[in-house]
Amino acid sequence: MTRLALTDFRSYASVDVPLAPGVTIFGGPNGEGKTNLVEAVGYAATLASHRVSQDAPLIRQGAERAIIRAGITDATRDNLVEIEVNPGRANRVRLNRVPLSRPREVLGTLRTVLFAPEDLALVKGDPGERRRFMDDLLVTMAPRYAAVRSDYDRVLKQRTALLKSAGPKAGGRDRAGKYGSGSREAVMGTLDVWDAHLARVGAELLVAREHLVDAVRPHVEHAYRQVASGGADGVGGAAISYRRSFGSAAKEGGGGEGAVGEATGGEAVGRATGMVRSDHKERVMAAEAGLRAALAEVRESELDRGVCLAGPHRDELELSVRGLPARGYASHGESWSLALALRLASFELLRTGREDPVLILDDVFAELDAGRRDRLAGLVAQAEQVLVTAAVPEDVPAVLAGTRYAVSSGGLTHAG
Ligand SMILES: Nc1ncnc2c1ncn2[C@@H]1O[C@H](COP(=O)(O)OP(=O)(O)OP(=O)(O)O)[C@@H](O)[C@H]1O
Ligand SMILES: [Mg+2]
Repeated sequence: MTRLALTDFRSYASVDVPLAPGVTIFGGPNGEGKTNLVEAVGYAATLASHRVSQDAPLIRQGAERAIIRAGITDATRDNLVEIEVNPGRANRVRLNRVPLSRPREVLGTLRTVLFAPEDLALVKGDPGERRRFMDDLLVTMAPRYAAVRSDYDRVLKQRTALLKSAGPKAGGRDRAGKYGSGSREAVMGTLDVWDAHLARVGAELLVAREHLVDAVRPHVEHAYRQVASGGADGVGGAAISYRRSFGSAAKEGGGGEGAVGEATGGEAVGRATGMVRSDHKERVMAAEAGLRAALAEVRESELDRGVCLAGPHRDELELSVRGLPARGYASHGESWSLALALRLASFELLRTGREDPVLILDDVFAELDAGRRDRLAGLVAQAEQVLVTAAVPEDVPAVLAGTRYAVSSGGLTHAG
């Protein structure tokens, strides 16, 4: 990334920062706008903030819209991404001055891995946080999954609405078991159609996630060891696995777990995106059949409860440390190290066979003890581009020397 320019984004009326390869450190007291800068970088990559789910807080108070411009240079060309953030309305996105008909077409132009204090929720929070982690990583790996993901969300929403309207909660089913306005047969027929949609799109999403988890697993285990103990064996390690919400035979044709650990280069990418694995199609078809069967099985209780009980929206990315579930068992430091390991692993996976994504470390060093700080710095010092924020510049280890900016009340000054 070569440049970040903001207009009316968060606390910035206007700012334009050139960005060089290597390390850039944004220092300055609390609340001066350091995270706002890297939040904008993350938004340019993912069209979402890592801090808020709504766009309204991103618009500078009193302004109507925010504009993020990001200059990106890769091996083949210079790109300019321009995003107009309109709260409550669709964003407008331009790539090299050409308006995109769908904002999500810009995904993949700028690739980032952002680690921030909020990431503790990856370990301690609800399963939804971990599903989002997988889906975000999947989309960064293979942007076409943005469409799969939004298709799935849409189908899920519609099917759930149908379940609600047909179920007893809506008063839809009378004592005789008849369904509201339509006949039972009509409702069931419509549900069958939605089951088929859900199973088809859901299978594609969940098999891709399974491939992704297989590909990222060795990196997570390795990164956790590095961060927690500098790679020494014997310290309780971390493990991750994908668990489907239905059937337990999630791993057709399983085996090869060890081989996955050896996956390198484009192979790992291929696995994660499902482009290379020769059995990808078969796995998706098997998952689709499995999901359809599961939906048929749970339909009665779905109608009773008005929720969709099977599908990737209920799957879980299971995390454990020392053989115990991370959530509810891991210490604060272990949880933090595991969250960090998930991000470092994402970085390793994304850089495999491609250019490095931009690595962003928001306020990370203050949370770590001296040993972890130094180990983390050593791990990331080789990245092509690292953006670091720190309220106390001394917290950033000396190996991460680079450009420094002092951030204060909506402005930046070059500080060496
Ligand atoms: N939409 C907005 N309009 C105006 N100001 C905003 C807006 N959103 C956030 N701010 C201001 O931005 C500041 C927070 O900026 P930011 O989170 O980047 O701080 P920081 O430098 O990272 O601080 P810390 O060291 O505490 O993490 C707050 O003072 C907040 O009031
Ligand atoms: Mg901050």
